[in-house]
Parts: sequence; C-alpha cells; structure tokens
Amino acid sequence: MTARDLHADIGDTLVSEERIAARVAELGARISEDFAGRRLTLVSVLKGSLPFMADLMRAISIPVRIDLMEVSSYGGAATESSGLVRILKDLSASIEGEDVLIVEDIIDTGLTLNYLVRYLRGKNPASLGICTLLDKPARRLVDINVNYTGFTIPDQFVVGYGLDYNELYRNLRYVGVLKPEVYAVPE
Ligand code: PRP
Repeated sequence: MTARDLHADIGDTLVSEERIAARVAELGARISEDFAGRRLTLVSVLKGSLPFMADLMRAISIPVRIDLMEVSSYGGAATESSGLVRILKDLSASIEGEDVLIVEDIIDTGLTLNYLVRYLRGKNPASLGICTLLDKPARRLVDINVNYTGFTIPDQFVVGYGLDYNELYRNLRYVGVLKPEVYAVPE
C-alpha cells in the first residue's frame, strides 16, 4: 500500500489535523490548571492513544510522569458483553497516592475503560480520571464518567491519528471515515 492509497481509502475527514491540534492545546491547558501543584501521572492505553498521548503530554505545562499500558479485548460477541480485557503490558511503576489520568483515543462501548478503571482503582491512586480524544456515545454499553473529551463523534467507522483498521491507518494525521468498500466483506 502506498501513501496515496492510504488517503484514498478515506471518505470524509471527521476531525482535521488543525482541529485536533487546537483541541489538544485546550485540553493540555485545562489539565495543567486542574492539576497544578499535584502529582500527575498520565497512563496511555496503547496502541491507539499513542499520537494523542505524545501531543497531549507536550501541551501540559506542569511536571507529569507517564506510564504505558496495552490491553486487548477478547474477540467475539459473547465476550463483548462480559467486557473481559487482557492486559498485554502492565504499568511499570506504582501509582499509589498519585493523581492518575487515563489517556485514550476513543470510547466506544466503554467496556475497556470500565475494566481499566476498576483495575487501576485497585492500585490506590489518589484520584483517577479519564481523558479521551474521541467519544462515540451511541455505542455505549456501560456508563463511563469522562473528565476530558476532545470530540464527540457519530457512530461511524473512523481511523487515523492512532485509530486503526487491521492495524493500518494509525499514522494519518487526521481522523477520517473509512470508505465502506474498504472493510466490506465480499459476497
Ligand atoms: C480501542 C480503543 C479503546 C477501545 C475502546 O482499542 O483504543 O481502548 O478500543 O473500545 P470500547 O469502549 O468498546 O472498549 P483496541 O482494542 O482497538 O486496541 P488499539 O488501541 O491497540 O487499537
């Protein structure tokens, strides 16, 4: 696949590079204010949150620690409702007594975060919040209390700026809607 093909698979641009940059700057400024004088740790949930995390941490002006987790949900309809999540990479340092902000690229059903919040609460942070670039509330199966949201988006198949389809498109600088023919299964 060439670089041209990558863009050719995208229909509408849902959130442009410029809008992402402006919103990330706003979120960074708000987080810096809200956590001034406290001990903030950003926990990025790989892989999708990688570009957002990289930009958000540099938009924050107070000292922060970072840590990385990687999780994957078990596939299949039965497990979707159970919300079982497998931890592929765990935290590398204790978060006990720390203010922790989970950094996500998208909240869809909410099952991943529902699991992660319970898991991280068990590690006794001083506080635990959520910052997500995208929120797709139409697909929510469990209530999630989100502290910082970049953009609320409709129920469309989006890729780019970290979000993938079959592990591709993560390196697009914007969030776009994947053309249906790209993921349509041939009859
Ligand atoms: C995506 C995204 C969230 C989760 C959201 O991760 O990064 O972690 O799905 O979906 P949910 O609200 O329905 O649980 P994915 O499992 O695709 O892994 P990735 O970040 O490595 O692409």
